[in-house]
Amino acid sequence: MDAHVWVTRKMKLSRRQVLLATGATVLPVSLFGATTQVTLQPRPTVAKIGQHRLEMLGFNGSVPGPEIRLRQNEKLNVQVENGLDDGTLVHWHGIRLPNAMDGVNVLTQDPIAPGDVFNYRFSVPDAGTYWYHSHYLSYDQVSRGLFGPLIVEESVPPDVDRDITVMLFNVLLDVSGNFDDEFRPEHFATAGRLGGVVTAFVSENEVLLGDRVRLRLINPSLDRVYSVSISGVSGFLVAYDGMPFARPEPLSTLVLAPGQRADVIADVTHKIAILETSGALVIEMAQIAVSGQRKKRSRAIPALPANAHPRLGAIKHKAKLVMQGGGGGKSHSGTATWAFNNQSGLPSKPLISASKGDTVQIKLVNDTSFAHGIHMHGHHFWEVSEQGERTYFRDTTLVEAGDTRDIICVLDNPGAWLLHCHMLSHQADGMATWLRVR
Ligand code: C2O
Ligand code: CU
Repeated sequence: MDAHVWVTRKMKLSRRQVLLATGATVLPVSLFGATTQVTLQPRPTVAKIGQHRLEMLGFNGSVPGPEIRLRQNEKLNVQVENGLDDGTLVHWHGIRLPNAMDGVNVLTQDPIAPGDVFNYRFSVPDAGTYWYHSHYLSYDQVSRGLFGPLIVEESVPPDVDRDITVMLFNVLLDVSGNFDDEFRPEHFATAGRLGGVVTAFVSENEVLLGDRVRLRLINPSLDRVYSVSISGVSGFLVAYDGMPFARPEPLSTLVLAPGQRADVIADVTHKIAILETSGALVIEMAQIAVSGQRKKRSRAIPALPANAHPRLGAIKHKAKLVMQGGGGGKSHSGTATWAFNNQSGLPSKPLISASKGDTVQIKLVNDTSFAHGIHMHGHHFWEVSEQGERTYFRDTTLVEAGDTRDIICVLDNPGAWLLHCHMLSHQADGMATWLRVR
């Protein structure tokens, strides 16, 4: 039913030809559910970041890019029109989609050349909070602003008054207060390129006292891990990386590594402040004002409905991923600053070669002096505690310096899937491997 009509960089089509081409699939698709059509145009942009106006890059002229929102199981058709003078790609972080739509250079497609168009077409099987971002020279393009929220609504959304997206971001300024686009060796070899302007983009800036709000926190930052605390609300943490908890957890300080998300459902008790609390200073990243008042709901905050994922089977493959290198790290035989298993950059052989449906376990060993947020494409995985219990089901896991964590999952999505550090300065400087599923 899904007659794939690709617009590749080799077929440079006019806008009208593109419309005609995609029009061919509209009829059959409409019989099976709605298709959301979006155009994303990455291009140079002057962005407002905190009090600053900065020359950056944006999708459709804005940082963050436009919010894409659709219902679970619906289809998304995104036409990317490259308005940069460099190649680009778009990755749909956390979405289980066909491998050819994953937006990864070398593994799934060539970069979209300047002036060219590519159509990403896929449906969204899981409800939750996701995001999209450039996946070509991503350390540079994401840090310059090429990211945006991708929201998949539950078939029956929870009973809330407001659904608010919060993207945590930071930028580095040079001495004259302009966007600093330089990467220095210490940015690659340490905790990353951490900007001094730390802020959050919120999709609404006013609520009523007593509102029940859903806050969707997303960390699209290049390298920064946030410790977020939210004042002015009383409620629960209900999901990580789009995947609902069976039992919501009382809201406390939340750690979000690059790429990670968290969903909160809470009642407004006061003016809301989103605070960064990891350093000695508490930074107020954003505020949401209150006006007026509504009667507080008496009904408890419920868990979100689970997304359907395959059950874990017996473990078919076990692999170990040792993170190496960086400042103060032991030596390794990779050719860049960082390495996975003594190899820097994408190896020719995958870490695991699995058959569709195989359950696999990967032991993530952080043998460096810095934390790393490891992201698996095309799948979610269980984090396993030291006691051997499954804890959270996510697509990105933060492994602190010196720590080890097992993850376990069913590889059921055929293709070549990237597994990398989502501190994008680390990825650019060696931390990437991949999994093959046949
Ligand atoms: Cu958020 Cu490889 O990506
Ligand atoms: Cu890293």
